[in-house]
Amino acid sequence: MKITVLYNRDFDHQAPQDDPGFAARAEVEGVAEAVAAALSAHGAEANLLPVFGHAFRFVARLAEDPPDLVFNLCESLAGDARGELAVPAILDTLGVPYTGSPAVAIALALHKHKAKEILAAAGVPVPAGAVIRRLEEAAQLGLPFPLMVKPAREDASVGISRRSVVHNHEELQQQVAFVLETHRQEVVVEQYVEGREIYVALLGNDPPELLPLTEIDFSALPSDRPRIVTYEAKWASGSVEDVGTAPRLVELEDEATRQRVEQVARTAFRALELRDYGRIDLRLAADGTPYVIDVNANCALAPDAGYARAAAAAGLPYDALIGRLAEIARKRTHADPHWQAERPAPTRRAAQPHRELHARGSRVRRGAPRAGRRRRT
Ligand SMILES: Nc1ncnc2c1ncn2[C@@H]1O[C@H](COP(=O)(O)OP(=O)(O)O)[C@@H](O)[C@H]1O
Ligand SMILES: [Mg+2]
Repeated sequence: MKITVLYNRDFDHQAPQDDPGFAARAEVEGVAEAVAAALSAHGAEANLLPVFGHAFRFVARLAEDPPDLVFNLCESLAGDARGELAVPAILDTLGVPYTGSPAVAIALALHKHKAKEILAAAGVPVPAGAVIRRLEEAAQLGLPFPLMVKPAREDASVGISRRSVVHNHEELQQQVAFVLETHRQEVVVEQYVEGREIYVALLGNDPPELLPLTEIDFSALPSDRPRIVTYEAKWASGSVEDVGTAPRLVELEDEATRQRVEQVARTAFRALELRDYGRIDLRLAADGTPYVIDVNANCALAPDAGYARAAAAAGLPYDALIGRLAEIARKRTHADPHWQAERPAPTRRAAQPHRELHARGSRVRRGAPRAGRRRRT
């Protein structure tokens, strides 16, 4: 099987000091290499394909020589997290199967306020909150403190620091202003949920399998810091906040709570149309309610990241996990009657998108879709 490992190579697009998510972006190249090595160990022909900045060369490359599967690791385009959702949309348009969530799930995970609305409608507990677009709106919230302030369209704790938990109007104004100015996007302000932080990793579809749970151990965090996982905690290795937010595998003692957590995670996975793998993050309130605080459709697949640790604990070491993800995506695609029926013959498939990409003037019409060549949706 020919597999292309697609990843964003945009960490040097901006100077590190100008890019609040630099460390997160710089990591993905190493992950791509680890994934390619794991796929090769499974006998696949794995090739790395970096996506540079704005250059859409990868589209032409995939159209000219389509692989059997794309292992999609793209988390941004041109240093902008919003580009993450364009990649699965492009792959769907090309008719190339790929691992992981479709554009709709990625989009929702990156529009936290929209995801919350859908989760609430599906009966999933989410913290009460609001989305703020202009600073003046912060004064009219009427939510009880403490509150959590976060950028609506980031992940990897970009924009999250100890100042993200606010206790009064002054702190709220300051932090909302900071997010608006620095991250130039909507701000989610929501109830700060005091309680244990639990991550649920899910694998596969119909129904997704639950991997062992992870809990963040805040016991080594100095008492003056809020119990949250900040950017420093995730990306400044050895820092006070890193050491004070150690992830560890956990089994929930209380059977009713465990069942509730599993049910909430599965419902969230389905409600937001996640696929193949993903991680749902919860905070367990004192009354046992598992509030979903974050949905990670495109969670990190680094060998030392939480998802791989949970898989290893379930008897799937890294190479086996990566092989399994490729297999899940391949089977899902081939079992999809739409994909089967609408898939162009391989030679035409290679030639056609190429012609369309280079089509000019009247040739555009010649390259237009013919009957029986509807795009897979
Ligand atoms: N409503 C909340 N209550 C308590 N802690 C929260 C809440 N929302 C976020 N956090 C804390 O902030 C961290 C990062 O927030 P999250 O929404 O997961 O952002 P990201 O998508 O960047 O990972 C979480 O891991 C958690 O520790
Ligand atoms: Mg998170």
